[in-house]
Amino acid sequence: MTDQEKVKKLYTKKVEKLLKLNKAYFEKDSPIATDSEFDELKKELLTLVKENPFLKKIKNLDSLVGHKSSTKFEKIKHARPMLSLGNAFDREDMIDFQKKIKIFLNITSEVELSSEPKIDGISASLRYEKGNLTYGLSRGDGLFGENITENLVTINEIPKKLVNAPEVIEVRGEVYIAKKDFEKLKDKFANPRNAAGGSLRQKDSKETRKIPLRFFAYGIGEVSSQIFKNQTDLLKKLENWKFPINSHCKTIKSIDEIEKNHEELESLRSSLDYDLDGIVYKVNNLHFQERLGSTSNSPRWAIAYKFSSVKASSKIKDIAIQVGRTGAITPVAKIDPVTVGGVVISNATLHNEDEINRKDIRVGDVVTIQRAGDVIPQVVSVDKSKRNENSKKFIFPNKCLCGFLTKKEVSLTTKKTDAVRRCTRGYECNFTAREKLKHIVSKDAFDIEGLGKKVIDNFWELKFIRTPADIFRLNYGQIEKLEGWGKLSIQNLQKAIKDSKGIVLDRFIYSIGIRHIGQENAKILGAFFKTNKKFSKLFNSKKRKDILKNLHDLDGIGDTQVKSIEDFFSNEKNSNIIQSLIAVLNIGDFKKISKKGKFSNKNIMFTGGFEKMSRSEAKALAEENGAKILGSVSKKLDYLVIGNSKPTKKKIEKAKKLKIDLMTEEKWYDLLNR
Ligand code: IVH
Repeated sequence: MTDQEKVKKLYTKKVEKLLKLNKAYFEKDSPIATDSEFDELKKELLTLVKENPFLKKIKNLDSLVGHKSSTKFEKIKHARPMLSLGNAFDREDMIDFQKKIKIFLNITSEVELSSEPKIDGISASLRYEKGNLTYGLSRGDGLFGENITENLVTINEIPKKLVNAPEVIEVRGEVYIAKKDFEKLKDKFANPRNAAGGSLRQKDSKETRKIPLRFFAYGIGEVSSQIFKNQTDLLKKLENWKFPINSHCKTIKSIDEIEKNHEELESLRSSLDYDLDGIVYKVNNLHFQERLGSTSNSPRWAIAYKFSSVKASSKIKDIAIQVGRTGAITPVAKIDPVTVGGVVISNATLHNEDEINRKDIRVGDVVTIQRAGDVIPQVVSVDKSKRNENSKKFIFPNKCLCGFLTKKEVSLTTKKTDAVRRCTRGYECNFTAREKLKHIVSKDAFDIEGLGKKVIDNFWELKFIRTPADIFRLNYGQIEKLEGWGKLSIQNLQKAIKDSKGIVLDRFIYSIGIRHIGQENAKILGAFFKTNKKFSKLFNSKKRKDILKNLHDLDGIGDTQVKSIEDFFSNEKNSNIIQSLIAVLNIGDFKKISKKGKFSNKNIMFTGGFEKMSRSEAKALAEENGAKILGSVSKKLDYLVIGNSKPTKKKIEKAKKLKIDLMTEEKWYDLLNR
């Protein structure tokens, strides 16, 4: 049976089960499954269809679970992006969060946090001008939202007018459905969150009005005058304007309080009339929030501390290994299937070789499995009392699935040996290559809709795609013969692939998957090379040497990254594969988002520690003001900013020789009005 046939069989079986449950529930009024089994089944079906669009042809789920395909709404740019949140899963993660904040702000005292339940609904942004609700947007992709005003105004809890409000204010919050209201909608939606999302994205607002959607406000976007000092004031003000604020919001400082709070709210969880999936902690002081700013995806001043996962016990049948796109070898426990929080699990990650050794995990062991939200299930502990006398220590294979020896790298900066074993053959290893292809088509890379992980696996097995360039030479006639591919889906795929050929340089650099070059570093490299012509000089071994020397000047690019680029381009197979890919693309120049500011187009470098801020904050401030940060003193440097605490003498001397402007810490504060 091919993979596709297997998926089809599984899908048909699940649809039949759902029909049976629906019948028992609605027609016979005697449910034969628990609520969560019902929900999970619907969720599984929706995921299956999402990953295997061909299933829609067999049985369209819309009629069964009320899944609405997204209709077209006008797109409007958010005045301030709607970011997502980083996650914390345990005490250590929260300690780390607090530590990073203190380091960034260069302070030693505890930072007060606003603790707010994380409502599992759909976020919305409401814009008020002169006190009147002008429009409301969904989150969309974070930068552009969908104009869903008509549906949002059906929510009674959302005020349509604000008294004594700033000229412009955007109020953000979560739209949700109360658990008891969801009971009546169960036949249509997989869970309350889906129901809220589906109702909000309905074209006909009369339909939305029938659904009792509710709202909790938790923050603001654009505001014309800053009238709040901290998050708690802001929530109070929102409450005065008649927005519903969750009653479990409070302020908190120490890690012990955080843990206590977590346990308390978690124990309340089942008694609350809305779904929670954790607690959001935000730095309470808004001035601190502003100083902390955000990375490309999420603010540095907030984190979502997820509720602990559900656990179960099972037996390890076997330990297999998986190869990732960086060649990382991950051991996976194949376990006797067990239900963890309503989902059947038969694989759980064991992380790496060190983890197996540390916990002495063996085949045949009875282990505890844990699953937290959308995170991969993991083996947390072994019950050694249940261990068989003859059980043998697990010997971690030293070879990759491709048969070649794996290595543990030694970090150039910390000199520590990595816990992860890797196959270092890149595209030469078939297992790594397949994962690299999945990365290339992914959202932040070429973003080819219709060419997901499953399709790559399928096309790989059929030998349609072996290298990235193959994606752009697909034989659509061949695909048409495959089950599940209709004319329309092929047309869409063809278009998505064609459109993706025009990729900008930094995105391209990220896509090819050079180890240690993530999105941020790819941007730095994009800004450095600017054009594909210059970037392509890396393929020439002589020119490469000089380029690599210059790369050291870039802040963020260190020895580790330079070595990784060297390794990538000196591998002949990698080099050929990427060159053939470039040949079929249309790589656009790096688009400089030139920030206007005090340091527009200036190169800055820092040495020594600062009193009023951390190095990270100084860098972030310089960048906000248009500067580029360099990592070493060279002719290109415009200013060397010298912190009062232990600056490097050598750097100052070199800068003096090169006649580079030196700036004291005091002058730096002066220029930035700090
Ligand atoms: S703050 C940049 N506060 O969680 C700050 N989010 O994973 C982002 N959410 O998209 C939002 N309750 O839909 C914030 N009290 C709360 C929240 C909350 C639920 C959701 C929101 C957001 C997602 C982030």
